[in-house]
Amino acid sequence: MFLKETNEHIAIWEGHKYTKEEATATSGIRKILWMKDFSVTFNALISEAENVYLNTNEHTRATVDVQTRDARFIKFCQERYPLHSYNRSAPIMHELRAIKSKHEVEQMQNACNITEKGFRRLLGFVKPGVMEYEIEAELIHEFVRNRSRGFAYGPIIASGKSACILHYTDNNKECKSGEVILLDVAAEYGNYASDLTRCLPINGKFTPRQKDVYNAVLRVMRAAIKMLVIGNNITNYHKEVGKLMEAELIGLGLLDKNEVEKQNPGAPLYKKYFMHGTSHFLGLDVHDVGSKYRSFEAGMVFTCEPGIYIPAEGLGIRLEDDILITENGPVNLMANIPIEADDIEKLMAN
Ligand code: GLY
Ligand code: MN
Ligand code: MN
Repeated sequence: MFLKETNEHIAIWEGHKYTKEEATATSGIRKILWMKDFSVTFNALISEAENVYLNTNEHTRATVDVQTRDARFIKFCQERYPLHSYNRSAPIMHELRAIKSKHEVEQMQNACNITEKGFRRLLGFVKPGVMEYEIEAELIHEFVRNRSRGFAYGPIIASGKSACILHYTDNNKECKSGEVILLDVAAEYGNYASDLTRCLPINGKFTPRQKDVYNAVLRVMRAAIKMLVIGNNITNYHKEVGKLMEAELIGLGLLDKNEVEKQNPGAPLYKKYFMHGTSHFLGLDVHDVGSKYRSFEAGMVFTCEPGIYIPAEGLGIRLEDDILITENGPVNLMANIPIEADDIEKLMAN
């Protein structure tokens, strides 16, 4: 491992930095060198190597507009040592990152626990007249005081019809009585993400219609979580969740049974009200790396986040928990975060 060497001047401005011994103690890496020795050391090592594995950002959602430090280093290597064989480390990292170690699961559980504290704080805070950004402020306060560095991703605090905008992040509207607010908000901890969505009735009580839609989403979520088991795969999983959602949308009067029977299987009608995937890998990134062609294995962590969005009714409901796949079935890392509509109402009333 290469570290930036410190000195008395830097210590005055930036504080103490690791000595080599401290770096070994904290990382387990025995050989520590200063960054200024990198070129000479690298030159000596590469002359004995045939294969070089270099990092590139191969996240499917990444848009890389400016040359990154990784990209500059790749260019440097290829120009300076043109006859080596260069390989991608990304596929190896993606394979490793998809399976969480015990320690990683602990970090993620802690992120979920901090998220829970933030959410519980909101149950007594959300009411008519509150601004969405005030809710954001409550959360960041609770996250940071529990040693999170903050939100794991841009928080979506979307009241009323804004909940139908999937990536709404304006968070600048007033919460109105009679509306539901969708909260897709979660803490990071130790660089690991959690990812939560809950929906609250702003005046503390769901209307019968809001509760029907809410419970439909909750049923789909519970059935979907049961399918996050070893050996299943994302394609089959999404197909099965689609069928569950279809039945719920018919029940809610949003889809017509006869039209569903005649639908084009390539463009199912349920997508009008549920237009995103049900699950994604979760870890160091909120949308973590991992192959969609790999069957589910123990140690993978996925979100489970069905939703129903009805712009005509100014209503969007999504519920989202984080699920660890284990030999003994799915383990919900957010099992302690209230989700039953009746529980939410009771807690808001307290
Ligand atoms: N918070 C982003 C997502 O749920 O995918
Ligand atoms: Mn998610
Ligand atoms: Mn989310």
